[in-house]
Amino acid sequence: MKPTNSSPFQLPALPWQENALEPVISARTIGLHYGKHHATYVKKLNELVAGTRYAELPLEQVIAATAGNAETAKIFNNAAQTWNHTFFWDCLRPGGGGQPPRELARTLEQSFGDYSRFKEKFAQAAVDQFGSGWAWLVARGGKLEVISTSNAQTPITMGATPLLTMASRTSQVSSSVARQFKASTLRPSRRKLIPLPNSKRWMLRPPLTSRRAFRRCKRRRRP
Ligand SMILES: [Fe+2]
Repeated sequence: MKPTNSSPFQLPALPWQENALEPVISARTIGLHYGKHHATYVKKLNELVAGTRYAELPLEQVIAATAGNAETAKIFNNAAQTWNHTFFWDCLRPGGGGQPPRELARTLEQSFGDYSRFKEKFAQAAVDQFGSGWAWLVARGGKLEVISTSNAQTPITMGATPLLTMASRTSQVSSSVARQFKASTLRPSRRKLIPLPNSKRWMLRPPLTSRRAFRRCKRRRRP
């Protein structure tokens, strides 16, 4: 379905079937978070922006324009959760997990010691996030970091480029974080490594949804 004046934001299709991640994440869980939560965020966002200047903006700009303002908090929450969920689906794939490709492993080693420590830190960030939220692998200031955010907060308002996310234990999945990690992927076959700005280090090319944020970050870092 194409965006219209009354519904400028659309629920994107899942990149796989709802049952494709079983037995790691059930079709029921995906159905709940995609068909109920994600779809509701998109629907509410369209209702909230109807007739406002936000209806003319891309999703990322709506998020940037409404962040940190109590008057636009509802729009921000629905826009940011729409973005976070879309990004999350793109971080999962059937048969994912396993060891990262060599260059990525080296980058993770430089930032975290080794891949298993990154994995531990990433999973722990999701477990430690109290209530609803997300754990993220992000690029910021030429470095890779693991951070967590609560509710609708999103790294794209924090000067960070998200590379991978996992929902915190209470918001997304009924199965354990470790099982969820098994379904996540760094998409080595489809996402190329690209150089970090002003650095000899490399990172994974961000998914489509965050490329604009990455370009902005790269532009800012140019002397
Ligand atoms: Fe959800």
